[in-house]
Amino acid sequence: MKKIHCPRLLTLLIIVLASCQPKIEKPREVIKFTKNWQFMLGDNPDYKTVEFNDEDWRTLNVPHDWSIEGRFSPDHPATPGGGALPGGVGWYRKTFAIDQADTGKQFYIDFDGVYMNSEVYLNGELLGKRPNGYISFRYDLTPHLRFGEENILAVRVDNSEQPNSRWYSGSGIYRNVWLVKTNPVHVAQWGTYITTPEVSTEKASVKVETTIENQTSAEREILLITLLVDANEKEVSSEQQELIIPAGGQHQTTQMLAVGQPDLWTIANPVRYKAVSELSENGQIIDRYETNFGIRSFEFDAEKGFFLNGEPTKILGVCNHHDLGALGAAINTRALERQLEILKEMGCNAIRTAHNPPAPELLELCDKMGFIVQNETFDMWRKRKSPYDYSHYFPEWHETDLTDHIKRDRNHPSVFMWSIGNEVLEQWTHADADTLDAKSANLLLNFKRDDSALTHEGEGLSINSLLTQKLANIVRQLDPTRPITTGNNEPNPNNHIYKAKALDMIGYNYHHEWFEGVPENFPGMPFIVTESTSGLMTRGYYRMPSDSMLTWPERWDKPFHDPSHACSSYDNCHVPWGSTHEKSWGMVKKFDHISGMFVWTGFDYLGEPTPYWWPSRSSYFGIIDLAGFPKDVYYLYQSEWAKDKDVLHLFPHWNWEEGQEVDIWSYTNAEEVELFINGKSLGTRTKTDDQLHLMWRVPFEPGTIKAVSKTNGQVVLEKEIKTAGHAAQIRLTADRSEIHAEGYDLSFVTAEVLDEAGNPVPNARHPIQFEVLGNASLVGVDNGDPTSHEPFKGSGIKAFYGKCLAIVQAKESTGLATLKATSAGLKEASVQIQLIE
Ligand code: GAL
Repeated sequence: MKKIHCPRLLTLLIIVLASCQPKIEKPREVIKFTKNWQFMLGDNPDYKTVEFNDEDWRTLNVPHDWSIEGRFSPDHPATPGGGALPGGVGWYRKTFAIDQADTGKQFYIDFDGVYMNSEVYLNGELLGKRPNGYISFRYDLTPHLRFGEENILAVRVDNSEQPNSRWYSGSGIYRNVWLVKTNPVHVAQWGTYITTPEVSTEKASVKVETTIENQTSAEREILLITLLVDANEKEVSSEQQELIIPAGGQHQTTQMLAVGQPDLWTIANPVRYKAVSELSENGQIIDRYETNFGIRSFEFDAEKGFFLNGEPTKILGVCNHHDLGALGAAINTRALERQLEILKEMGCNAIRTAHNPPAPELLELCDKMGFIVQNETFDMWRKRKSPYDYSHYFPEWHETDLTDHIKRDRNHPSVFMWSIGNEVLEQWTHADADTLDAKSANLLLNFKRDDSALTHEGEGLSINSLLTQKLANIVRQLDPTRPITTGNNEPNPNNHIYKAKALDMIGYNYHHEWFEGVPENFPGMPFIVTESTSGLMTRGYYRMPSDSMLTWPERWDKPFHDPSHACSSYDNCHVPWGSTHEKSWGMVKKFDHISGMFVWTGFDYLGEPTPYWWPSRSSYFGIIDLAGFPKDVYYLYQSEWAKDKDVLHLFPHWNWEEGQEVDIWSYTNAEEVELFINGKSLGTRTKTDDQLHLMWRVPFEPGTIKAVSKTNGQVVLEKEIKTAGHAAQIRLTADRSEIHAEGYDLSFVTAEVLDEAGNPVPNARHPIQFEVLGNASLVGVDNGDPTSHEPFKGSGIKAFYGKCLAIVQAKESTGLATLKATSAGLKEASVQIQLIE
């Protein structure tokens, strides 16, 4: 028997009362459908039914990732390669009412991404299944909706078959959900496609293709007006057309518009325009649909690289996975924005969405902040890389998933390239991974295969080449304006993917020794380094001598062990298929035919703890650690990439054994740097094209090291590091002291352990306890240690090499919040965060 729930009755009453008020009809409403879901970890067929009572379930807001709330264990089927966190099956239920007066309207539910294998039910009826955990999808709720009554939406999420990923995926409704209300005649989902066939500073032509859907059983005559507005909402162009939309069908139309003296989208000034598509019938507006777009021209040239609006521009990018460290996969716009801010500050101008469709918010931010995106769809096609991965669904779903990905993202000005696959095993005719476990799969990808698996003279196209053509054709039909590439780790032109001759651009992962030969091996083809480097580093850990190289693991098939479970922060440790950061960047910098590069990776991510395995559970590849603290190599890139900044970075710390030989490094973009120890000069060094860092080898003596950078004999910057004394106090620094009281905004607070005099204590490992008072809560803690098993959702964490992070989230009322940090024996600290409208 169904129980009566008072709060729901109340909601219904409010809705019924509200419906008695006269209201202004909006032709389209897009409602964020993220609050107050009921959640249960576990499985039962009854959970989908209307009758089921979910009162005892946990109430939460999505985006939500249940895996990140779990405990680390090597026994979880995801393995350390997947982050050593739990998967399983989970259910979400949401009760909602739809106004009686809305009868006749059309209602859709849009999921930006559910990991994975989701099944969505409305009032007990299955709306659909979607295996791919990264794709956005929509269901039409209308046929099963109960107008003027309660409705139950139930979502089953199945992430129990693991390993299904080579990195941490997260589990659940981890991206946003939207309820979309329209009239029966409306612009279809992703129903506009906007391109700019001609672009100059005088004029741009803007082509707008619009797809209109008619959900009624009668033909409809409508007027489509497309307005283009600039960044100040000023109308700059418009076109109108009368159209007949067939009963129960769709109609696509194209309009050509022009913009005079357009503001071009650039990396430094990413100006956007908006197209407003207005549908009206008998003088009444029945839909209003908005699409942001940018006006820019670009070219990938086989000899000269990438040009944006005619300007030669090196693509200075990083690959990133989708997790947000301690927040897991649950998308949070501020957390993403912070990542991009840190990267922008480094001089980075590009992102590769490794190796899947990103959250829509990432592209929105890249559009707004000026990043060039390589947007990637697949990490595998038919051949699998882990036992339960997407290869199982590829045969049935690749056309739909690829189509939806391109349609969703093709209006973003930040998107400049499509990648249809990363290191897919179809590069070779054999190389099945079917007997491999997740640990080997992560290493196997890059070991050399013999030539028999490549194509040979006189052979026709293999099935793998044909598949490449098929996928490329799907993309090209939907968007002929952007080049299609793949991230390949087989640089030989006889690779089955290259042999398909279906790509517009050659993409390599690693193999820097092949970069120079691309013009000869692939005449006339533009080239981009889709993935490079894979340097290994633990923030704060240094292995000397810094000029001896550590290739870890030495070979993919030989067990690797080092008791430190750490990797050196000098740029002297990398995987065998990779290189130092200096090496790969040095090559990309040298050759004009290289459009740019994407370093593996910008941020550390959960899972793939190469060269280690448990107890490690997150990666060592990041230029920035999992908590968002830059490693030293961040400043190598800043000194090379950030043209608008004076850079001087000095490392390591200055707490060593008396007399120990220490390598002191500096990254700079000044002409020279002079180093002093306790006032004595150790000489001046100048960087060369082949060596992008400066080094001094000196016996340690406590005190102060100081670097002074100079250009034209003038001092540019000075940096000092002092030997720290005993840990005495905590310092808290919030990245933002004002955040919005809307339930999602975040302040990232760094806690550092300092000595009495205020010097950072570099090796401090003190446990730090956090407490939040006021209208905010603690939603994550981290320290960037890939071996830490302390829960991300705990109330404290140990400092790691002197620091850790607390993530504070605003609740929904304005006021003040205070974060307090304590640790036995240390002077406590607190920081205030203002919660504003
Ligand atoms: C590449 C792969 C990435 C990551 C990386 C680690 O081969 O594309 O996903 O596994 O190696 O070095």
